[in-house]
Amino acid sequence: MKANHLVAPIVKWAGGKRQLLPEICKHIPQFSTYYEPFIGGGALLFKLQPKKAVINDFNDSLMNVYKIIKTHPEELIESLKHHNNTSEYYYEIRGIDRDHNQYNNFSDIEKASRLIYLNKTCYNGLFRVNRNGEFNSPFGYYKSPNIVNEITIKAVSRYLNENDIVFKTGDFDDALKGIRKGAFVYFDPPYDPISLSSNFTGYTDTGFGRSEQERLKLTCDNLHKAGIKFLLSNSATNFIKELYKDYNIKTILAKRQISSNATTRGDIEEVLISNYD
Ligand SMILES: C[S@@+](CC[C@H](N)C(=O)[O-])C[C@H]1O[C@@H](n2cnc3c(N)ncnc32)[C@H](O)[C@@H]1O
Repeated sequence: MKANHLVAPIVKWAGGKRQLLPEICKHIPQFSTYYEPFIGGGALLFKLQPKKAVINDFNDSLMNVYKIIKTHPEELIESLKHHNNTSEYYYEIRGIDRDHNQYNNFSDIEKASRLIYLNKTCYNGLFRVNRNGEFNSPFGYYKSPNIVNEITIKAVSRYLNENDIVFKTGDFDDALKGIRKGAFVYFDPPYDPISLSSNFTGYTDTGFGRSEQERLKLTCDNLHKAGIKFLLSNSATNFIKELYKDYNIKTILAKRQISSNATTRGDIEEVLISNYD
């Protein structure tokens, strides 16, 4: 079946893979079930549109967005229509997670609507939380952000309903429990920082340090031993290249825009690592 081009990421996520997709797509093998344990914005999932998939992220607010898109697309669209693109309103909505009672009283639809709204209107369009798990990006002052992306929400909802897509929320290792031969895993973990100034770990309040990268490598080793194919993207640091030296490593050039500091943007090297040719 041909992929539906209306199915696309709903949220812009740090490390979003959109521009690397053509290169990544060249390396996708045949599979029975697709696994993406660090789903983020889901660029590759929505590009491939597999019939059977397991998607996971540590970030429960993000996984809630996917669940609501699947189960309540119309209500979500209605809720999104009520938001305003003004700085006063933005900070009011942003501040709701400072008051846990107020946030906990929100329905899952309102929580998903809030995350999408903040993602579309905040500076640089990135989800960023501080150590307390509070959203802390400033207002973006965009002229006409696409807050109610009705066509995409409906297309993604249909995709999630018409296929066998399992949602999990937690650690990447748990997401792979029960995986069978014939499955394929794409890992897009938080990247190993290239320099101290780029140690962006704002995806979750826990961060993802080198011991986590090492733990992920052990997971890859276990998949390899079980005869399951994996593809992994990361930054081309010496640490990563050394860690995965026993696998196939392809270096590619990427433009990264995860930094709000314009001087640290520009081309950087990334690696695509796989256990197959
Ligand atoms: C680089 S982003 C994924 C980008 C995504 N592929 C895209 O195209 O937008 C990494 C994701 O890993 C998640 N994450 C961080 N630690 C994790 C863990 N231990 N297990 C699972 N997910 C985790 C973060 O919440 C974040 O969404």
